[in-house]
Amino acid sequence: MTPNKKKTISIAPAEGKLAILTPGMGAVATTLYAGVEAVKLGLAKPIGSYTQMGKMRLGKRTEKRFVNVKDLVPLASLDQVVFGGWDIFPDSAYDAAKHAQVLEKDLVERLKEPLSKIKPMPAVFDRNFVKRLDGPNVKTGKTKMDLADQLRADIRNFMKENGCSRAVMVWCASTEVYTPPSAVHQNIKLFEEGLRNNDPSISPSQIYTYAAIKERVPYANGSPNVSVEMPCIQELAQELNVPICGSDFKTGQTLIKTIIAPGLRNRQLGVAGWYSTNILGNRDGEVLDDPGSFKSKEVSKTGVLTDIFSPEMYPDLYSDISHVVRINYYPPRGDNKEGWDNIDIFGWLGYPMQIKINFLCRDSILAAPVALDLALFMDLAGRANMRGLQEWLSFYLKAPVVKPGLTPEHDLSVQLLKLENTLRFFTNEELINHLGLTYYGVDEGKDD
Ligand SMILES: NC(=O)c1ccc[n+]([C@@H]2O[C@H](COP(=O)([O-])OP(=O)(O)OC[C@H]3O[C@@H](n4cnc5c(N)ncnc54)[C@H](O)[C@@H]3O)[C@@H](O)[C@H]2O)c1
Repeated sequence: MTPNKKKTISIAPAEGKLAILTPGMGAVATTLYAGVEAVKLGLAKPIGSYTQMGKMRLGKRTEKRFVNVKDLVPLASLDQVVFGGWDIFPDSAYDAAKHAQVLEKDLVERLKEPLSKIKPMPAVFDRNFVKRLDGPNVKTGKTKMDLADQLRADIRNFMKENGCSRAVMVWCASTEVYTPPSAVHQNIKLFEEGLRNNDPSISPSQIYTYAAIKERVPYANGSPNVSVEMPCIQELAQELNVPICGSDFKTGQTLIKTIIAPGLRNRQLGVAGWYSTNILGNRDGEVLDDPGSFKSKEVSKTGVLTDIFSPEMYPDLYSDISHVVRINYYPPRGDNKEGWDNIDIFGWLGYPMQIKINFLCRDSILAAPVALDLALFMDLAGRANMRGLQEWLSFYLKAPVVKPGLTPEHDLSVQLLKLENTLRFFTNEELINHLGLTYYGVDEGKDD
């Protein structure tokens, strides 16, 4: 008998080109495309991307063995990536990047050639779900199933025309009006009937998600839209062996929240209130100015603290938190969001204290590397035969979708441990538990 027999996992090599397809070619998507092209030309570094810059430890501490993440797992290289997308506006990625005003004009001009080649495919769009936008580059079809079929054909054609061997889809389009799962979303049979019958509660983002999975294309949801949360989508992804993950890129204010809140809880400091407000003036801000779209954001943003603080477990510390989140559309700031957090905390014997955070961030600069990493890891997951929800990618997501009945993990450092251990698992490396109690004989000979 072999002691410690481990399950080994085999990952298909990252051969050929990878299509990264984004519904939405706005600020985040064009900053992603432009960033990758700039890195390829040696004009800039992929700062903020764990797949490109991250390192992790393998084996025991005493071995001092650190590797680059991209050398450990067989990720697609940036040279193998081809970008494509859909948008309701017909602008090329070059024009869209100029419109978004995230990157300096000079840089966008230097990238004019590759960006001009990326032209949006006509979108599946319904104004009932995004009230503040309208555009001409939109598909028509008798039923929502027709629209899904058109998207599926787009994916196949794009891959053929660009000689891609694989594709992943990352949602980078606008936030839709909040629509919790309803009867039609309960299983795939009902959902497909709903697509054929034009059920009004099926949103465009759900049609893209369905089309991707049917084409065996891994799908990551970068917005708070309800899509991978739905039982029908999870069922289909399981059945067809396709990885999915969501929801909502974890950037700006929520990133900071999930760094600070676990620290307060770990030190058993109480929280009476957390007031978060921010101003932003990009198109995303304009869309979120509609109360329906804001509701989606509010749900994904506010769930974080409840899960981290678990008031039912710590009633003395967190049972009465006043958590307020505001997003204010303020055009002069464009993509350069400014966020303020006021945290009312209390310590020993209940004495009150305050923390103030003023984060002057750049929304799409924070989101682009997250979108890139999600795309590359979802492709890896597909080649590793992973299917259904990829909880190990919670690190990147504001509202991680987990199996029914489980609580999501929001603590950024725990999320990173989970991600790293998953990569160790993929490469048949020893999992690290940081116990390190060799002198008690607990981990004899290990020194974690
Ligand atoms: N930037 C961040 O830090 C961040 C963080 C978390 C989530 N997000 C989410 O990422 C998404 C993109 O953000 P952004 O700043 O790029 O917004 P944006 O408004 O600049 O771009 C969105 C694009 O999607 C297009 N669009 C809308 N509906 C579409 C549809 N059905 N099909 C195809 N295209 C469609 C719009 O025309 C627009 O060009 C938003 O949902 C946003 O909430 C962004």
